[in-house]
Amino acid sequence: MDLTVRIGDVTVSNPVGVASGTFGYGSEYEQLIDLKSIGALFTKAVTWEPRPGNRIPRIIETTSGLLNSIGLANVGREGFAKEKYPFLSGLSCSTFVNVAGNTEDDYARTVEWLDEHAPLTGYELNVSCPNVKEGGLSIGGSPRMVEVVTRRVRAVTDKPVIVKLTPNVTDITEIARAAEAAGADALSAMNTLVGMVIDVDACRSVLPGKTGGLSGPAVLPVGVAIVYRVSRAVSIPVIGIGGIDGPDSALQYLLAGASALQIGTANFVDPTVTDRVLEGIRSFLSHHNLTAAGEIAGLLDR
Ligand SMILES: Cc1cc2nc3c(=O)[nH]c(=O)nc-3n(C[C@H](O)[C@H](O)[C@H](O)COP(=O)(O)O)c2cc1C
Repeated sequence: MDLTVRIGDVTVSNPVGVASGTFGYGSEYEQLIDLKSIGALFTKAVTWEPRPGNRIPRIIETTSGLLNSIGLANVGREGFAKEKYPFLSGLSCSTFVNVAGNTEDDYARTVEWLDEHAPLTGYELNVSCPNVKEGGLSIGGSPRMVEVVTRRVRAVTDKPVIVKLTPNVTDITEIARAAEAAGADALSAMNTLVGMVIDVDACRSVLPGKTGGLSGPAVLPVGVAIVYRVSRAVSIPVIGIGGIDGPDSALQYLLAGASALQIGTANFVDPTVTDRVLEGIRSFLSHHNLTAAGEIAGLLDR
């Protein structure tokens, strides 16, 4: 059975990855699961300087979902290199640094710096965070800005560059094509959906920043439809993200056209979800007499 996935010139051992912001920098889960079984680990966002993030509360549970407004709290590039990199560089799975910034310069200089001081497998550009005032959606919502950021980063690294798309746009395929044209090796779809929860008794929004990003099972059908559309609009691999909590939801993404997956919120509920999903993909392949995970998409609506 061939479970490998090609991202740029890198071969990832299997399609099951863990999503940025839900898996820390890996060491947090070391005691809970065998990290060797993960295909790819996507770190919490790293920015040029450390960021404290937003005021609390930053996370609230919703019906079948989670609304977060972390605000890209992170240790910054130097903290990452000093505190997080030694553990990550010892892992056998592929490791992608999720990079965020306010401007195209921010993305390019952070990737260039990390390439020299803390090189891992590659980068995922978070141009899609809904919880920050600058960068985030103002970049990810504009095909031109996505193209500029991707091109700038492409110019400073030979490692795989993955662009993470936001669903909070009018036509996501336009943004996907812009990233591909600028040299992205793959796309991640999707980041969280903008949402809001109001405490009716207090007549106030629960999150201090008013809105947050919705994730978890509630967003699954949105993500599957997005992957279906995006994977038909580009020829680079698409990594499906959003609401995966077991084999069925994971297989929906693979059938829709995803080459690989990332699991986010479900790690908080069951840290062994990645193992269950991988096992489910293996059983599905044997059941359908397939030999490679890449063949699953061909089964849809045949
Ligand atoms: C608490 C939390 C923090 C997140 N932080 C980041 C982040 O730093 N960078 C990023 O690109 N996505 C971040 N995300 C988005 C996830 O990586 C993922 O795209 C999203 O949660 C949808 O997947 P899920 O439904 O499986 O959680 C975060 C999500 C959550 C729930």
